[in-house]
Formats: sequence, C-alpha cells, structure tokens
Amino acid sequence: MANFSYSKPLIIILLGPPGVGKGTIAVALEKKLNIPHISTGDLFRENLKNKTFFGEKAKNYMEKGLLVPDELVEEMLYKRLKKEDCNKGFILDGFPRNIPQAQYFAKIIKNKKITVINLEVKKNILIERITGRLVCKKCQATFHKTFYPPKKEGICDLCQGELYQRNDDKVEVVNKRLLEYENKTKPLIEFYKKNSNFYSVDGSFDKEKILKDILSKIKQIEFK
Ligand code: AP5
Repeated sequence: MANFSYSKPLIIILLGPPGVGKGTIAVALEKKLNIPHISTGDLFRENLKNKTFFGEKAKNYMEKGLLVPDELVEEMLYKRLKKEDCNKGFILDGFPRNIPQAQYFAKIIKNKKITVINLEVKKNILIERITGRLVCKKCQATFHKTFYPPKKEGICDLCQGELYQRNDDKVEVVNKRLLEYENKTKPLIEFYKKNSNFYSVDGSFDKEKILKDILSKIKQIEFK
C-alpha cells in the first residue's frame, strides 16, 4: 500500500452505530496513516479506571448507555487535541455524537476540511459484534469471541493483559445505546453530507477489506 502524505492536516471522523467496528478500523488506519486514533469512549474508560474528575462525572451516563453531557466530552477532547501528535491530523472515533458537538468541533478546528467515513452494518450484526466483544484491561485492544478470538482464551495477544466484557455491552444497555445513536448521532449523516468529504462504507466485510475500501476513499481526497 502506498504511503500517505498530506500538505494539510488529515482530519478523519469515523461515524457509525455502536459495534459497527469504528475502533477496530481506527487502530488499523492509525498505523497506515501515521496519525493518532482518538476514541472518546476509550478516553472515558481510561479516566474511569483512574477515577479522575472526567471518569467520575461520566460513569453514571456510560453505565446507562446514555451520552455524556457535551461540555464534559468537549473539554476532555480539547485537552487531547492540544497535544503535539495531533498537528498532522487525527482519527476521531466516537466524536462527535450529536449536532452541537459537531458545531463545537468545526469551531475549534477553525472550519478545516474534514473527511467523514460512515460505516454501515445491519442491526443483527451490530448486536452480534457488541455482545461478543472482549477488551483488554491493560491496553484496551479489542477482540471478539467468534470473529477475532485471542490466541489464548481470556488473554490479550498484544500485552498479555486480562480480557473483559465492557459493562455497557450487556444486552439491556446495548439497546439504549442504539436508541441514543438513532435519535442523536444518526442526524450527523445529513449534516456531514453537506459539511465534509463524506463517504459511506459497507462495514459488514472482514476488517482487511473494509480498511482497503476506506484507504481508497481517503486517496481520492488529495485530488479534490
Ligand atoms: P464508545 O466507546 O464510543 O462506544 P460506541 O460508539 O458505542 O462504539 P463501540 O466502542 O461500541 O463500537 P465500535 O464501533 O468501536 O466497534 P469495535 O471496533 O469495538 O462510547 C461508550 C460510551 O461513552 C457512550 O455510550 C457514552 O456514554 C460515552 N461517550 C463516548 N463518546 C461520547 C461523546 N462524544 N459524547 C457523549 N458521550 C460519549 O467492534 C465491535 C466488535 O466487533 C469487536 O469485538 C470487534 O472485534 C468486532 N469487529 C469489528 N469489526 C469487525 C468486522 N469487520 N468483522 C467482524 N467483527 C468485527
């Protein structure tokens, strides 16, 4: 695969419902594009683990499958984007989640061009992916009981950390998260069709094929 190099910061948003594969693809894209993957969900889970201000405030909402209040997410994200590794661009996974967050984001990046990759998968596949997900307690790497099982049961292939099921991956909470997506996040599709380089990608294939499809779209933005 060719190397990617851009004269302007490459700002990518991965959009899509819970369990569609945003995190999985973001990890692979990060390696290909050499820009950081920033997941607001991972940032919150890290803060929860370390019992920080952000973690304590977000806990209740996350456990119920609800979106955390905008001000809190925005402050946490702003701090992350200030770091030097974001100068060449970044891949956002899990942000924005509603129109006000998208408007806030446009403001802080001073209306720079954004590329949005909207991943699409049928609901029955989403549920299968979410309920079989396993996450590493130490490095947050993601596996799946059936689709991407770890080499050794319960142990992370990358750092030997212990694998666990996320609290919000239980069926009752998953339904609430899907509803939050339908009501608050899905309207971003129409918003970004007007306000970005917008591409929809079929997320039901294996991750190598999805990555290839996304990279072919990203290549096109150089020529616009
Ligand atoms: P967050 O962590 O962002 O969760 P999410 O959007 O619900 O997304 P997921 O992490 O569930 O799914 P994913 O698309 O990344 O899928 P993955 O790659 O892991 O948010 C959690 C909570 O934090 C929210 O509910 C909210 O409370 C709060 N929050 C976060 N950001 C916020 C914001 N901006 N505003 C307000 N609140 C916010 O894949 C899923 C599984 O499928 C894995 O097991 C994987 O191995 C498998 N898989 C992936 N791709 C494939 C494939 N192609 N084929 C087969 N299996 C696959």
